[in-house]
Amino acid sequence: MLLSACSSLPNQAPEPGEQFRPPTLRTATVDDELMGKWSRSCALCHITGEAGAPVVGDTAEWQRRLQQGEETIINNVLEGFNAMPPLGYCMACEISDFRAMIAYMAGLNQ
Ligand code: HEC
Repeated sequence: MLLSACSSLPNQAPEPGEQFRPPTLRTATVDDELMGKWSRSCALCHITGEAGAPVVGDTAEWQRRLQQGEETIINNVLEGFNAMPPLGYCMACEISDFRAMIAYMAGLNQ
């Protein structure tokens, strides 16, 4: 049956009234390796809110920032943004790492 192939797609449209979350952020995986990188770089500022950094788990603040779009926010990490250094001090991070870190800090993938 052709239909069964389609029904395995993991994707659902957002429920009406539910806030839109970019699927790539929502489905990002956070594993030990990623958390290791996170705690050696992003954590330095994003736990305490150093220099105005949005704090991990402050979902309202992260939602506000995510409204500018996923690509913009990723670019801001790559190039640096005000007091945040380029790459957020994580030279070994891939773009997929940044996505997962943002998802983690924004509480999107729990
Ligand atoms: C030296 C401190 C510092 C480190 C390290 C750091 N950040 Fe930041 N980050 C900031 C500050 C400060 C801001 C807020 C900048 C502003 O809004 O003026 C920020 C903002 C952000 C934003 C929001 C950007 C936007 O467009 O609103 C993201 C996403 C982000 N950081 C991700 C990361 C990630 C991922 C890491 C680790 C790889 C990281 N940061 C490491 C200080 C830091």
